[in-house]
Amino acid sequence: MEHLTNIEHLGIAVKSLEEGNALYTKILGIPPYKQEAIEAEGVRTSFFKVGSTKIELLEATHAESPIAKFIEKRGEGLHHVAYAVDNIKAEMARLSLEGFRLLNAEPKEGADHKWVCFLHPKDTGGTLIELCQDRG
Ligand code: CO
Repeated sequence: MEHLTNIEHLGIAVKSLEEGNALYTKILGIPPYKQEAIEAEGVRTSFFKVGSTKIELLEATHAESPIAKFIEKRGEGLHHVAYAVDNIKAEMARLSLEGFRLLNAEPKEGADHKWVCFLHPKDTGGTLIELCQDRG
């Protein structure tokens, strides 16, 4: 059985979703297919299809948002790599046993109809990793 089945999307932190949308519409040649705010996470997102994967742009909605803090520290750019999983709880348990710290102990509702969980970037060589499973 495959644990992480494919790269579901790449998350990219932007200061302005409007400017990010315009830039990625130019790069990819297509507009975003959806825009969605996740108030609990302090982000506004937009999604672009790229073949079988996606680009997620993330803009902070307030100064305490994790995206605002990320941009403050590291600037705009690649924020996380999201892997699709069929059974997020099983993968969370497996990776936790492997010694990875989970940023949320239970799957939480993410953008684009997903259950998501993040792994601590200090345990993954500096890249924030998101696991995501379709909410169906
Ligand atoms: Co994401």
